[in-house]
Amino acid sequence: MAPHKLYSLLLPFLLIVFMPKVNAQTSDDGKNLFKKIFITDAYNKAVRPTFHPNEATNVTMNFYLTKIIEFDSQKEILTTSGYLDIRWYDPYLAWNPLDYNSTDILYIPQDKVWKPDITLLNDVSNFEELGSISLFVYVSNNVSVDWVPYGIWKSTCSVDITYFPFDTQSCDLRFGTWTYFTKDVLIKVDNYTINLDFYETNSAWSIVDTSAYTQEIAGSSLAVFQIKLKRKPLFFLLNIMLPVMMLSLLNVCIFVLTAESQEKASFSVTVFLALVIFMSMVMGTLPQNSEEISFLGVYLVIMAAFSTLAVILTMFQIRLSSRDADVNPIPSWLIKLQVMVEVVRCRRRSKLHPATHSHDEVVEFCSEDTTSERRNSKSQATNEQPKVTWNQICSSLDFIFFWFFSLGTVIVTVTIVAIYNISG
Ligand SMILES: *[C@@H]1O[C@H](CO)[C@@H](O)[C@H](O)[C@H]1NC(C)=O
Ligand SMILES: *[C@@H]1O[C@H](CO)[C@@H](O)[C@H](O)[C@H]1NC(C)=O
Ligand SMILES: *[C@@H]1O[C@H](CO)[C@@H](O)[C@H](O)[C@H]1NC(C)=O
Ligand SMILES: *[C@@H]1O[C@H](CO)[C@@H](O)[C@H](O)[C@H]1NC(C)=O
Repeated sequence: MAPHKLYSLLLPFLLIVFMPKVNAQTSDDGKNLFKKIFITDAYNKAVRPTFHPNEATNVTMNFYLTKIIEFDSQKEILTTSGYLDIRWYDPYLAWNPLDYNSTDILYIPQDKVWKPDITLLNDVSNFEELGSISLFVYVSNNVSVDWVPYGIWKSTCSVDITYFPFDTQSCDLRFGTWTYFTKDVLIKVDNYTINLDFYETNSAWSIVDTSAYTQEIAGSSLAVFQIKLKRKPLFFLLNIMLPVMMLSLLNVCIFVLTAESQEKASFSVTVFLALVIFMSMVMGTLPQNSEEISFLGVYLVIMAAFSTLAVILTMFQIRLSSRDADVNPIPSWLIKLQVMVEVVRCRRRSKLHPATHSHDEVVEFCSEDTTSERRNSKSQATNEQPKVTWNQICSSLDFIFFWFFSLGTVIVTVTIVAIYNISG
């Protein structure tokens, strides 16, 4: 292979390796400038760049958020990627461009110059220096230094689960100097928002609002970048809320089955187990937090309580339905209850009956239907043997429980929907 061909093949690599670190026209200018700063002037990166030791170095920060990688609301960890734009003036990095063939910009590896010791204060992974030694700082001829460390930040974020899954969380990224006091390094923010120009959307969370402000804690200066996140609720709505509402319908349907049906008990237990599974699914996404409870959790517990009650009532009903009224006489209050239920049921039936219109007809229709009950209650009064069976009692109880559970479920569900609506 001809030497010039080899050269053209290697050219891209050579360009990368020998990328000029100096905006100079010749490499000599760069070498001379580095020699001037680091050897002649003996630049020391441990020395804070100021001619007036009583004057603070002003550091300006901006945060560019590029992605919310993950928000683990159970572990309360927010993982984001983005970069900071940090600027300050370093008077020790001054030079005269005319001496270096009009070189007015200098790129210096970040570990060669003084930098404020900024760290993410609410970091959960490891306290590390920002950026890496492969990064450069950008130094202008007017001694402004621009440092743009990129990072994947894992920060703590306490989660408020009250309105889960329609919740809005506010998370802070707190960048501050670890060692320097405010009198030495003063952090400022340019913009009172986070820059979202390069932001990629997240499928589970949307950004509602951002803000940036500075604070002083324990004598040190820090910048707080706050992100307000709103959970996109569709996933939890489709996979948890709706199935739970459907299950609560099934819960009511337990009382549609008669007590003689062998399936009644197993059906009620199955509904209870399904609810418990949904409860554990919800608990898997929420922090194990005992300070506040979510309305969804309360809703699930109430539904589970309804279901437990339904199971217990079903058990007793099945027991009662197998009783013989001759051996175990039916208490009179149960018979009265049964008569009442029969009257209500009959009224509703007669309304649907096309032939009966007038009030008298309804009463007549009902009295036909409830003759046996009337006779029974009369006979009860005269201490005769009642004709009502335990099965009829169970059927009446089914009727009462059906409406009681329907009403309870509707009230609780409407309340929870209203609470979520009010919270927005
Ligand atoms: C300054 O840069 C120009 C190219 O822009 C080059 O031709 C010239 O030789 C350089 N002068 C010195 C003294 O290096
Ligand atoms: C830093 O900012 C303060 C006011 O915020 C100002 O008084 C001070 O002169 C600034 N320091 C430098 C070195 O510019
Ligand atoms: C110094 O130069 C930078 C980059 O060219 C510029 O952003 C900054 O405003 C300049 N500062 C002053 C004080 O001129
Ligand atoms: C500050 O925010 C404004 C408006 O969003 C934007 O135009 C400007 O570039 C931002 N400044 C910096 C330094 O990011």
